[in-house]
Amino acid sequence: MTRWLLAFAALAAALAEATPPTPKAPLLLPTKIKSCIEHCKCKLNKLAVIECDRPIILNSTTFRYINKPQTSTVSFENVIIDQIEEDAFSDFPNLGDILILNSHIGSIDAKAFNNVKRVKFARCRFEDRPDLVSEKMEELHFGECQLEEIPKLNGLLKLTFLNLTGNYIKDIDIDAFAELFDLEELYLSNNEIFKIPPTLFINNDNLAGLYLDNNQLRHFYLNTSENLETLSLKNCSLELFDEKSAQRLSDLNDLNLSHNKLKTITGRTMSFMKELAIINLSHNKLSKLDDDIFAYNTNLMKIVLDGNNFEALPNFYLHNGDFIAYSFSCKHCGLKTLPASAFKHMKSMTSLELSHNKLMNVDNSFQNITSLKLLDISYNNVVYFAPYTFVNNKNLEYLNIAGNPLMTLNPEVFAVMPVLKLINARNATLSKLWSNYNKSLKDLQKLLLSDNRLTSLSIDDFRITPSLTAIDLFNNPLVFTEKLCKVLNWLDLKGVNPIEKFRSYEFPFDDSYDIIMSWTQLHNNNCQVQSTTTVTTIPIDDEDNDDDDDDTTDRYDEAYYDDEDDIVEEEVKKFAESNFTRASYILSITSAFVLSAVVVLTVAVTLTLCILKRNSNFNMHEANLPRVKIPLWNTTPGQKKHSGSVYRPLSEDLSGPKTPKLSRYEFTATPTVHSSNP
Ligand SMILES: *[C@@H]1O[C@H](CO)[C@@H](O)[C@H](O)[C@H]1NC(C)=O
Ligand SMILES: *[C@@H]1O[C@H](CO)[C@@H](O)[C@H](O)[C@H]1NC(C)=O
Ligand SMILES: *[C@@H]1O[C@H](CO)[C@@H](O)[C@H](O)[C@H]1NC(C)=O
Ligand SMILES: *[C@@H]1O[C@H](CO)[C@@H](O)[C@H](O)[C@H]1NC(C)=O
Ligand SMILES: *[C@@H]1O[C@H](CO)[C@@H](O)[C@H](O)[C@H]1NC(C)=O
Ligand SMILES: *[C@@H]1O[C@H](CO)[C@@H](O)[C@H](O)[C@H]1NC(C)=O
Ligand SMILES: *[C@@H]1O[C@H](CO)[C@@H](O)[C@H](O)[C@H]1NC(C)=O
Ligand SMILES: *[C@@H]1O[C@H](CO)[C@@H](O)[C@H](O)[C@H]1NC(C)=O
Ligand SMILES: *[C@@H]1O[C@H](CO)[C@@H](O)[C@H](O)[C@H]1NC(C)=O
Repeated sequence: MTRWLLAFAALAAALAEATPPTPKAPLLLPTKIKSCIEHCKCKLNKLAVIECDRPIILNSTTFRYINKPQTSTVSFENVIIDQIEEDAFSDFPNLGDILILNSHIGSIDAKAFNNVKRVKFARCRFEDRPDLVSEKMEELHFGECQLEEIPKLNGLLKLTFLNLTGNYIKDIDIDAFAELFDLEELYLSNNEIFKIPPTLFINNDNLAGLYLDNNQLRHFYLNTSENLETLSLKNCSLELFDEKSAQRLSDLNDLNLSHNKLKTITGRTMSFMKELAIINLSHNKLSKLDDDIFAYNTNLMKIVLDGNNFEALPNFYLHNGDFIAYSFSCKHCGLKTLPASAFKHMKSMTSLELSHNKLMNVDNSFQNITSLKLLDISYNNVVYFAPYTFVNNKNLEYLNIAGNPLMTLNPEVFAVMPVLKLINARNATLSKLWSNYNKSLKDLQKLLLSDNRLTSLSIDDFRITPSLTAIDLFNNPLVFTEKLCKVLNWLDLKGVNPIEKFRSYEFPFDDSYDIIMSWTQLHNNNCQVQSTTTVTTIPIDDEDNDDDDDDTTDRYDEAYYDDEDDIVEEEVKKFAESNFTRASYILSITSAFVLSAVVVLTVAVTLTLCILKRNSNFNMHEANLPRVKIPLWNTTPGQKKHSGSVYRPLSEDLSGPKTPKLSRYEFTATPTVHSSNP
């Protein structure tokens, strides 16, 4: 390690020699500056107080040694603050945020936060009911602070965001928010509120988001809420959401009524909410909806009805044309039938989730939903799909039929969907993969078959899925005969990866959660690794073989079926040979890439060594140069969460030219570049 550092120091020195030195500005910091306050410890050299040996008072003296212009955030955690005085923060010109967590607070002078934009108390205890006045404060949190009353906030003229989640608030004074003219978002979830004065928000014309989840409201009614855009009333013991409730919600976009006790909701009630785009009625006690339930919700885009008990869905219609809804979900809904007429007016739907119902026959159900991209009918009772079931679903990419007692799959059912990319047929009692080989699934990339009863597979099974890149065979009673081993080997050669896990609810269809295994892991060394010399290339799919027509049977003669093993052997060879040209093309690209990487590396190392040698204190033979590690897929730092999918830098970020896409398995195994001694 030290040697390493020395090497770098030497390198730096060598470089410094080459460039003219830049004059360094002398340090101008006053000697008194401290990064923490008296009697306390701070974290990370910031004004982040984490421990004090006594209760503290925050006043102007407290921060006298702090570099105030440079402080934008002040935080306290696990402290006892006897008092926060009016001028405590008044000399911080750039203070944006104050956070006080897990602390005990005596009293706060009303104007203590007069020049602060955001204040967050979380899990704090207050001896006195806070009463705040501020000209600048925009955001205020009192999360889980055991408050029984709403603090006095009417001096917060600029407040736009208030979070009072997780307190013991029961009653709300009619004037609690009367002077918060700018309030836009109000969180009152997880309290004990049982009643809201109907005119509570009479002055809050800008209130757009109101969150009241987990209170005991029973009934909701506000007569001054025309401007609400988001209303969340999850788990509020509502037994009724009627016309009176909805009357004033003319601007509402997003309504969350999940986990209540609603037995009915009428089309008339819904008709007041003309702007509604998302409605969540999941986990109520609904048993029937009228056909006109959404008849006036022209803007409805997303409908969630999970966890009710319907038996059947109504024939949804819109008074003036078709819905623009793109997402519909009714999981765990007790559905027994699904007539095509239910979605007749939802032609633009792209996502339909109907898992965990009791559907047996869906042959006609999806006929008119031509834009459908995702269909989840997992865990129903479908035994058989008529070959025409999906004939109009030309846009379907993702099909989840897991958990249905299917026994086997008929490719003719799926081949009608030209862009079908994934079939999830896990836990579907499959004992034979395909019932015939009459049609091929041209675009299919993933086949999830775990938890089935497959004992064997044949090359024919995969000939009809020429684009397959990943397969999940986990937990099948596979018998690793020589034949099966050859099939697995063949799949390996074709660049098909065995995968272990797939987040089946990810949409758009995304493979970032796959866990790729090796074939060895799958067969657990029950198969010999094939050492045929013909198989040293990396063949990929031969277009002539698979892509030109639907009918793949005529290519095989009877003999093929008589002695499959020989044929398999032959196939492997033929396959390898016929792909030789393309394989060598790929190889040449790959090696070009590897070679250029090696060249660059060698040059870099040589240069480094030259510089180091010049500074003769470097012993080349003892040098232990670092390993340059290329991060693996799943360990890449800097992953970003964004709409459910994980961004990972691809080949571009690993520098160098784009690698030809062989298969991700090989990519994962991209050799770690070890620097070698030249
Ligand atoms: C601030 O509080 C401390 C006690 O913590 C006290 O000694 C000091 O005099 C106070 N300063 C002012 C300006 O009130
Ligand atoms: C509101 O406060 C609660 C409790 O501290 C917290 O969990 C939640 O994330 C906050 N909500 C927002 C939108 O900041
Ligand atoms: C509903 O609220 C109660 C408390 O009022 C809580 O115990 C329960 O866990 C909540 N249920 C859900 C689904 O959030
Ligand atoms: C709100 O309702 C109350 C009584 O329920 C009524 O006195 C008041 O006039 C209503 N306000 C508006 C704006 O409708
Ligand atoms: C319901 O609540 C969840 C969680 O608070 C939120 O993400 C969602 O947007 C809300 N709205 C609907 C329509 O579900
Ligand atoms: C609907 O509400 C349930 C329960 O609150 C939540 O889990 C789900 O994510 C919500 N759905 C949408 C689309 O917001
Ligand atoms: C589906 O569409 C076809 C043609 O557009 C139409 O004839 C048929 O009646 C529709 N089915 C239903 C149930 O609306
Ligand atoms: C398979 O489905 C059955 C019900 O159909 C369920 O009980 C079981 O847990 C499922 N198994 C797996 C591994 O998902
Ligand atoms: C497959 O096609 C052949 C003729 O092309 C036909 O005889 C056979 O019944 C078909 N198999 C299935 C299961 O449809």
